[in-house]
Amino acid sequence: MKTIFEPFRIKSVEPIYVTTPSERTHLLEEAHFNPFLLKARDVIIDLLTDSGTGAMSSHQWAGIMMGDESYAGSESFYRFQSAVHNITGMPHIIPVHQGRAAEKILFTITGGAGKYVLSNTLFDTTRANIEYSGAEGIDLLCAEGKQMNVEAPFKGNMDTEALKSFISKKGAATVGMVIITITNNSGGGQPVSMANLKEVKSICNAHQIPFYIDACRFAENSYFIKQREPGYENKTVLQIAQETFSLADGCTMSAKKDAFANIGGFLAMRDDKLAEESRNLLIITEGFPTYGGLAGRDLEAIAIGLEEIVKEDYLQYRIRSIAYLGEKLDKENIPYLKPTGGHALYLDAKSFLPHISSEQYPGQALSCALYLTGGIRSVEIGSVMFGKYDQKGNLIPHCNELVRLAFPRRMYTQSHMDYLAEVILEVFKNRENIPGLEITYETQFLRHFTAKFRPLDKG
Ligand code: F0G
Repeated sequence: MKTIFEPFRIKSVEPIYVTTPSERTHLLEEAHFNPFLLKARDVIIDLLTDSGTGAMSSHQWAGIMMGDESYAGSESFYRFQSAVHNITGMPHIIPVHQGRAAEKILFTITGGAGKYVLSNTLFDTTRANIEYSGAEGIDLLCAEGKQMNVEAPFKGNMDTEALKSFISKKGAATVGMVIITITNNSGGGQPVSMANLKEVKSICNAHQIPFYIDACRFAENSYFIKQREPGYENKTVLQIAQETFSLADGCTMSAKKDAFANIGGFLAMRDDKLAEESRNLLIITEGFPTYGGLAGRDLEAIAIGLEEIVKEDYLQYRIRSIAYLGEKLDKENIPYLKPTGGHALYLDAKSFLPHISSEQYPGQALSCALYLTGGIRSVEIGSVMFGKYDQKGNLIPHCNELVRLAFPRRMYTQSHMDYLAEVILEVFKNRENIPGLEITYETQFLRHFTAKFRPLDKG
């Protein structure tokens, strides 16, 4: 049998409200051409993010009823702690309400002016928290990771030569930490190999630099290692995840991804002193160390989600369904970042819309066109998200202009994928008529969430 089917049955459904094209024209205008500002009910297929949007299992919903809401020492905390410990082996496990809260605590303590935080590629909230502390975030992605069309197995790897030379140029004392994002979200959901993680670890060890993992999608990364890295084919995903974390001094985790939870996360580490300082900050900003901004029921949902996420039939269906969409786009030569990632497919807006320059935000323009044509919500990962201005106020564009189609876990079926492929093809056929955009409003940090745009007249 060749068909890889969804390894679950659907017990509870949510209707989709189907908008018409003319309704969408009006709705997008009202949202100032920023899909973040659309109402969710006006979206047919919501691929804005895979974060907190997944379908919980009947087992998780049962766990919700078991949540112990005690302020201190809740049973749910101990179940959560044990589930996280089983995977990460970390002695200190600090619950937080989501990933960026872990980042805020970690970089408030370890960041600061004059420090560098090195990564394969930092996610936007991670970079923002580093910069907010006064430190500087530096991406050192491997060469193949920067090439849109190269089909390499581990395009999320860090460039270890660049890491060594950065350390020797700036001095180890200036490097606050190295944090590797698995999978590399902003770089296409591409995995990092165990060999690369080991090499980074040994470079960090040699210079006494802490080595952390941004572990949001650790299970997808582990599955890719099992599929692609020699020597791991007979290990379980859980064993691979355990080996991954055994290399690290600590990790940040958004449980909204690879823990099937709608909210939650954690910060985990080996260092006793840093853990104490982190808990002190946690109490001021999130809550008591046995709930950290979460309800007991959330801790239950995460504990159960962490057991489910490492199941290989789930991961096989997950990775395969995104590759399936990629194969459909290949048939029409529609440009996207290759190979397909673990949680998302990233359309290459630069090649898709060659008539729109970075200054006119081709990713945002493509994202708007997907909504207008088929009610698809996606997110721009390009010069809107990562662009900066020089001193004269000119845009310094991001190296890539991508549109991410991120798939909520266990939510959409194969026919949703088929519809999506049809919409993308339709947009591709009409691509020459898509206009660029200009920004009419923006904020200093994370501007993509709230920016407003205006379509430019086609010249
Ligand atoms: N690190 C990575 C790699 C992420 O992808 C995210 C969130 C975070 C940290 C922050 O976690 O949202 O729980 O505070 N990514 C979401 C996304 C928002 O759409 O990719 P959070």
